[in-house]
Amino acid sequence: MTTAQSVSQSLVEELPALTPTPDYAIDLLATIVDGSDDAIISKTLDGIITSWNAGAERLFGYTAQEAVGQHISLIIPLSLRAEEAAIVERVHRGERIEHFDTVRVDKDGKTHDISLTISPLRDSAGNIIGASKIARDITERKEIEQERLELSGRLIKAQEEERRRLARELHDDFSQRLALEAVALQTILDAIGNSQPNVSERLREVLKGVRELGSDLHSLSHDLHSSKLEILGLAQSVSSLCREFSRQHKMQIDFDEAALPEPIPSETALCLFRVVQEGIQNANKHGRASRVEVRLTGCPTGITLRLSDNGVGFDLSQDYASDGIGILSMKERARMLYGTFEIRSEPMKGTQITLNIPVRRPTRQPDKPNIERYVKHG
Ligand SMILES: Nc1ncnc2c1ncn2[C@@H]1O[C@H](COP(=O)(O)OP(=O)(O)O)[C@@H](O)[C@H]1O
Ligand SMILES: [Mg+2]
Repeated sequence: MTTAQSVSQSLVEELPALTPTPDYAIDLLATIVDGSDDAIISKTLDGIITSWNAGAERLFGYTAQEAVGQHISLIIPLSLRAEEAAIVERVHRGERIEHFDTVRVDKDGKTHDISLTISPLRDSAGNIIGASKIARDITERKEIEQERLELSGRLIKAQEEERRRLARELHDDFSQRLALEAVALQTILDAIGNSQPNVSERLREVLKGVRELGSDLHSLSHDLHSSKLEILGLAQSVSSLCREFSRQHKMQIDFDEAALPEPIPSETALCLFRVVQEGIQNANKHGRASRVEVRLTGCPTGITLRLSDNGVGFDLSQDYASDGIGILSMKERARMLYGTFEIRSEPMKGTQITLNIPVRRPTRQPDKPNIERYVKHG
C-alpha cells in the first residue's frame, strides 16, 4: 500500500471521529491525492476518465481539464490496447491488480515505463462503477535494470574472453614447456641408465609429478575453454564433460538428450554448457550428491536443460547469491539469451535447475532419447 493509500484508508476509518463536514473530508482527501507523486486516475467502466490528479498531469502532460471526459486510450499505446481490454475485464470481475508493469504514452508521444495498481470502484450498493488507477513512473528503475543487465552481460563476455586467453596460454605455452621438461628428464634418465639407482628412482618420481602436472594443466585448460564445443557440438561436449567429471569424481551422471535443434547458435550452446559445468560442480562440491541427471531437450521454441541432483540441497531463502557467483552467472546467462531460469532446492531433498533458452530454428524430428550413463564405482 502506498503512503497516499494508507493515509486515505486511515482517514476514511477516522472520519467519524474527526467530525468534520463531509465537504471538509473530501477536500482533505483531494489534497492528499493531489499531493501524491504518483498519477492517480479514476475512470468509468467504459474507460472515460473521471478524475486526474496533479501527479497524472506531471507524468502524462495533460491537464485535468484536457483529460477528464476523454477515453483512457489517450495514454495507451496502440500496441497495448488489447492489454487494457484484459485489465477492464478483470476489474469487471472485481479483481484488484497490483504492480503491473506496462508502458504508457504522454502528451508529447514519449513512452514511460510505469507500474500500475488498479482497483475497482464501487457505488454505495457495492456495484462496480469504474476503476481507480495509480501509476508510478518506473522509467528510471527500468533504465538502471537495463544498465545492470548490460553490465552483467559484458562481464560474462569478458570472463569468457579471459578464460579463452588463459586456456590458450596454459595449453599452448605452459603445457608444451612442461612436455619438453618431461622429455629432458626422460633423456637424463636414459643417460644415467642403471649407474645410479637412487638418482634414477628420484628422477622417475619427478618425471611422474611433471606428467601429472601436465595432465592437470590440460584438463584445467579444457575446463576454462574447450574448443570441443565448437567442433563436437553441444550434445557431445556435454556428454564428454559428464563422462570426464564422473571419471574424476565419485559421482554418477546420467545424461540424455532428445530432439535438439540443429544447428544450435554458438552463444546458446556455450550458455548451456557453462550451466551444466557449474551445476555438476555445485552438485558435487556443495550437494555432495552421488547422482546427477542432466537432460537436454529440444522443443519447437527452444532448448530446455534440466539438472537434478540427489545431494543435500540448500535453503533458497538464504541469500545464496551473496557469496558465490555460480548461480548468479547461470541466471544472467539465461537472461542474456531471453531465457528462463528456475532453481528449486530444499535441505536434504536435492537441487533441480531448469533452464529454457528460446531458439528460432527448425527442430530435428524427435528421435528416441539417447541415454548414456557414466558411473564411477569405488
Ligand atoms: N547443487 C547444490 N547443492 C547444495 N547446495 C548448493 C548447490 N548449488 C549451490 N548450492 C549452494 O549455493 C551457494 C552458491 O552457489 P554458487 O553460486 O555456485 O557459488 P559457489 O559455488 O562459488 O559457492 C553454494 O555456496 C551452496 O551453498
Ligand atoms: Mg558454484
